[in-house]
Amino acid sequence: MTLVRQLLGTKGHEIHFVRPDDRVLDALKIMNDKDIGAVLVKEDDRLVGIFTERHYARKVFLKGKSSPKTPVREVMEARCICVGCEQTAEACMALMTEKRIRHLPVMRGERLVGIISIGDLLKSIIADREFTIDQLEHFIHQ
Ligand SMILES: NC(=O)c1ccc[n+]([C@@H]2O[C@H](COP(=O)([O-])OP(=O)(O)OC[C@H]3O[C@@H](n4cnc5c(N)ncnc54)[C@H](O)[C@@H]3O)[C@@H](O)[C@H]2O)c1
Repeated sequence: MTLVRQLLGTKGHEIHFVRPDDRVLDALKIMNDKDIGAVLVKEDDRLVGIFTERHYARKVFLKGKSSPKTPVREVMEARCICVGCEQTAEACMALMTEKRIRHLPVMRGERLVGIISIGDLLKSIIADREFTIDQLEHFIHQ
């Protein structure tokens, strides 16, 4: 079973983030430039929230708020659901399904060390299943 730390080892520990007082437009520019669906929100090196495409659609666009004027802190989700490095990909997928979220910040103790998306998990789980199938086929044809 693949662990979160192994996933981060493959995809990297880079974290794209904004500050709470940055504007929504700043967050959208980063999401566009990096081709990602979420940015983390950090203050004094502490994780204080997450802002995703869904937050933009529901809390900014549908509410008629202005992206250049609205600070991220006003529309972000402050109750971040996080995972640890030793959690399995399957456990993360179950958590995402239960909480209906697509991104999980990764913590080592108090320290933010990465982020994984539902796409990362799907890729990893499919690769694990393909490996198992290959092994079984090899065993059958021996
Ligand atoms: N239809 C479905 O069920 C389904 C499921 C998963 C993904 N998708 C689609 O696949 C595409 C990729 O989705 P995704 O789940 O990988 O999400 P994503 O586009 O947000 O992430 C793409 C990659 O960037 C990384 N990333 C995201 N935010 C980051 C951040 N703030 N800092 C650093 N790295 C960050 C992710 O870990 C991932 O490796 C999207 O277009 C999505 O809509 C669809």
